[in-house]
Amino acid sequence: MWWLLYTLICVLLVAVIFFLTARRRYKLFSEKSVRPPGPLVTDSKERDDRLKRGFRADRVPPALDAVVIGSGVGGLAAAALLSKAGKKVLVLEQHDQAGGCTHTFQNKGFEFDVGIHYLGQLHENSLLRITMDQITEGQLQFTRLGQQFDTLILGQADQRREYHIHSGKTEMTACLKRQFPGEEEAIDEFMKLMKLASQRTPLIAILKMIPYWLVNFLVRYGLLDRISSVFRLATTNHSEIMSRLTQNKDLQALSAYLFYGVPPKESSFLINALLLHHYKRGAYYPRGGASEIAFHIIPVIQQAGGSVLVRAPVQRVLINQQGKAYGVTVRKGQDEIEVHAPVIISNAGIFNTFQKFLPKHVQDKPEIQSLLGMVRHGMGSFLVFVGLDGTKEELGIVSTNFWMYKDNDLDSLMERYSSLSRDQVLGNIPMMFITFPSAKDPTANIRQPGKSCMTLLTMASYEWFEEWEGTRLGKRGQDYLDLKNGMAQELLEWALTIFPQLRDKVVMVDAATPLTNVHYLGAPRGEMYGAEHNLERFTPETVARTRPQTPIDGLYLTGQDVFCNGLAGAVHGGLLCASAVLDQILYIDLLALKTQMKHKKTNHKLA
Ligand SMILES: Cc1cc2nc3c(=O)[nH]c(=O)nc-3n(C[C@H](O)[C@H](O)[C@H](O)COP(=O)(O)OP(=O)(O)OC[C@H]3O[C@@H](n4cnc5c(N)ncnc54)[C@H](O)[C@@H]3O)c2cc1C
Ligand SMILES: *[C@@H]1O[C@H](CO)[C@@H](O)[C@H](O)[C@H]1NC(C)=O
Repeated sequence: MWWLLYTLICVLLVAVIFFLTARRRYKLFSEKSVRPPGPLVTDSKERDDRLKRGFRADRVPPALDAVVIGSGVGGLAAAALLSKAGKKVLVLEQHDQAGGCTHTFQNKGFEFDVGIHYLGQLHENSLLRITMDQITEGQLQFTRLGQQFDTLILGQADQRREYHIHSGKTEMTACLKRQFPGEEEAIDEFMKLMKLASQRTPLIAILKMIPYWLVNFLVRYGLLDRISSVFRLATTNHSEIMSRLTQNKDLQALSAYLFYGVPPKESSFLINALLLHHYKRGAYYPRGGASEIAFHIIPVIQQAGGSVLVRAPVQRVLINQQGKAYGVTVRKGQDEIEVHAPVIISNAGIFNTFQKFLPKHVQDKPEIQSLLGMVRHGMGSFLVFVGLDGTKEELGIVSTNFWMYKDNDLDSLMERYSSLSRDQVLGNIPMMFITFPSAKDPTANIRQPGKSCMTLLTMASYEWFEEWEGTRLGKRGQDYLDLKNGMAQELLEWALTIFPQLRDKVVMVDAATPLTNVHYLGAPRGEMYGAEHNLERFTPETVARTRPQTPIDGLYLTGQDVFCNGLAGAVHGGLLCASAVLDQILYIDLLALKTQMKHKKTNHKLA
């Protein structure tokens, strides 16, 4: 059956050659577009001018090539890539500042990140690093966290076990082996599968680029498994694979400790492996905080004549008689203002795009209904933002993140947690993530002198908060506040058992529920990571269907719902989207640049 692999490769090669020769190629990337980083801009007016430019009809650039709905990093990446191809793009954001999950907010003099705690795969000359450099002209910098980037704490107070997770090509494995004597073989096997998952994931992404008939053919004849075992890793539940490798419950838990709302037994081994592998070559934090991400992508969009405007809630995608998208409407006070462009890109996720933006008769199309039937809303998040009085040295806090679980059986723990009813939640939160953003950022002492912050995170079901769905921010009533403050207090008390020295240093506490995500992130059911990352999402059929192209001509998707969550996932969504719009596989251009830079470096060394 090897012929099949060759057939596929040949088909791809032909496609590539066709792309290379048949049309004019856009030249997006070059080493020259990367400048040495400028100084950190701390002036709030200068930052707001860029991140908080409000929508007005007279600010819409004329003759747009594309409109992007949403300014998350997936939307900004797609917009910047198109801008680098000379397209004029308008990004419309519903919130009062750009960035989506990467935006930050101030409260009582503290600055908090919302959805960026640490990033991986940013080592020199990695594909992600090159992409980020290209779309920010080298202005976004990253600081590496300490080698021990995560600590996992399992069990109740009296029988707590602590495990350290180290980054490093060989150190990640070596460190695990030191902590699990007798499990060397299982660890080697797990790491081998993890490596395979990461190396072969491009084959999965290719399913989003080849025609559906080819995907169907490959699936129908069971040929994908012959091409690579990565397809099996994608469709096998995590618990099944781990139970074959080891009976050690703590090691099983460690293999899936980066929670995102799906119990290991219902999740794909592939995604868990990719999440941990993400940090293998080091964990990083954006220097200057997460708002730097949007701050440095926006100028690239502006240089091509485009713009990023906030307080611009898109209501509808306009579809013409022929069924082609030709614009959007934006709510401005009582009015709806039309903005027209031949290409409409949605960064607002699958559910908003198809259920909110499209007219009913278009929504009802079987292609759209079957696509919606393949995905579910992901679980919500619950965040606690804690302001601390003191520098990291004074408080004794570090860049390491902490993941805590009250039990090592993550399957039953998560299943029990997500099926709790609202009045059972308090007193029963079994998992938490603790991080100190200010301890990761070398500019923290300039930006917030003498202060530190801590963020606590757990998953939360939308149903617990659904009753207050229609209420307005800040006016949701006492019962809501009781639940929110109760959960925040419970998490804080739990965190203080690990960091008792912080008890007297807490100067502010604020919390965010799934309803907060609805308001600020436009997440329809308070989802933390967009569509659920369950096993179904990684079947070849769903992978192929959740591509940037939609059943509506002229309407595209970008961001985390295209491939997977995380800054990296959303940026890949942007790359796939811009590739689809430009009809040019941008990965080829990126790989060419990567090779060129690598050669230059080795030549440099030799000379
Ligand atoms: C609490 C939390 C912690 C996280 N931690 C990390 C981490 O440590 N590392 C990591 O890599 N990733 C992390 N993530 C995930 C990561 O932040 C996201 O996966 C990624 O940023 C998603 O980008 P996106 O562009 O797809 O979507 P989003 O950032 O969600 O952007 C979508 C945008 O669309 C806008 N929008 C929605 N509807 C409309 C409308 N009608 N009109 C106009 N605009 C609209 C929204 O306001 C939003 O700005 C975290 C996420 C959360 C929530
Ligand atoms: C996980 O896989 C095992 C083995 O195939 C199976 O028995 C189990 O039902 C699966 N779990 C889920 C939730 O699909």
